[in-house]
Amino acid sequence: MNLDLVIAYGSAAEQLARRTAQLSGAEVVEVNRRLFPDGEQYVKVSGEVKGKDVAVFQSFAFHPDTLLVEYALIVDALKGMGCSRVIGVLPYLAYARQDERFNRGEPLSARVFASLIEATGTDEVFTVDMHLHRFHEIREVFSIPASNLTAMPLLAGHYLEKGGSPNALVVGPDSESRQWASKVSESLSSECVILEKERLGDRQVKVSELRGSNLGSAVIVDDMVSTGRTLLEVIGKLRRIGIERIDAIATHSLLVEDAFIRLRDAGLASLITTDTIENPHTKVSVAPLLARTLLEKYGGRG
Ligand code: R5P
Repeated sequence: MNLDLVIAYGSAAEQLARRTAQLSGAEVVEVNRRLFPDGEQYVKVSGEVKGKDVAVFQSFAFHPDTLLVEYALIVDALKGMGCSRVIGVLPYLAYARQDERFNRGEPLSARVFASLIEATGTDEVFTVDMHLHRFHEIREVFSIPASNLTAMPLLAGHYLEKGGSPNALVVGPDSESRQWASKVSESLSSECVILEKERLGDRQVKVSELRGSNLGSAVIVDDMVSTGRTLLEVIGKLRRIGIERIDAIATHSLLVEDAFIRLRDAGLASLITTDTIENPHTKVSVAPLLARTLLEKYGGRG
């Protein structure tokens, strides 16, 4: 079965789009882009999309605002070419952590970002391990059909394939990580503990103490690693109770500044992340997950 969708891509998800197209037998339409001298973006889609559904891949890491405009331009170009529906395949959604007005005068950024995606004319959204904390379901954030897939079984599978212990203690750094950590502990059939985290600043967090464990290894599970400070704090707590081998699993590797070096220097055995954000440290592709999901819904001609 081939995918009855054409695939287009934004600049932050081209490789993932091509991998997914290869696995699903979908046709790819090329998207060319350049900057005007004043910094405005120009895009041009080549190919035939009239009357077809198009899956537009884009990821929103590092420069989410620019990437959102690029995505909006691509969607408008496709609609102008007479495509039928646009399915946003947006594996990393920015602004999802700002899911509350924490202080007076602040925006509800998660919802603003979702509304801007909807305003592009996108008909449906697929994402991966969205940071759902104060919103519990993706449909509370989007008003168009939206699905939140999980890469956790793929990540746990990779951990085991590379010699990770099926008995490792699975540790989630904060309450919202339970949704991801519990999936990994199901795949490993091991014990799962969830810590409490207090964020003291953009680069400073505190996590609760762990009780002693007679296990020799642990795997920390989170949705994303940005500055790496959350993982570093948990690594410190695990060392204090004598855990020797510590690995980490996170779907989205933002790895800003010197995060990767700090984690390596802290003795992290491995950091297993996916290509929702293109990054040299990525170990697992979510392309099979996306191809399978799209084929289930949009599989067509043989
Ligand atoms: C927030 O609660 C997220 O789930 C992650 O724990 C957080 O974004 C990681 O950020 P950092 O690597 O900067 O500590």
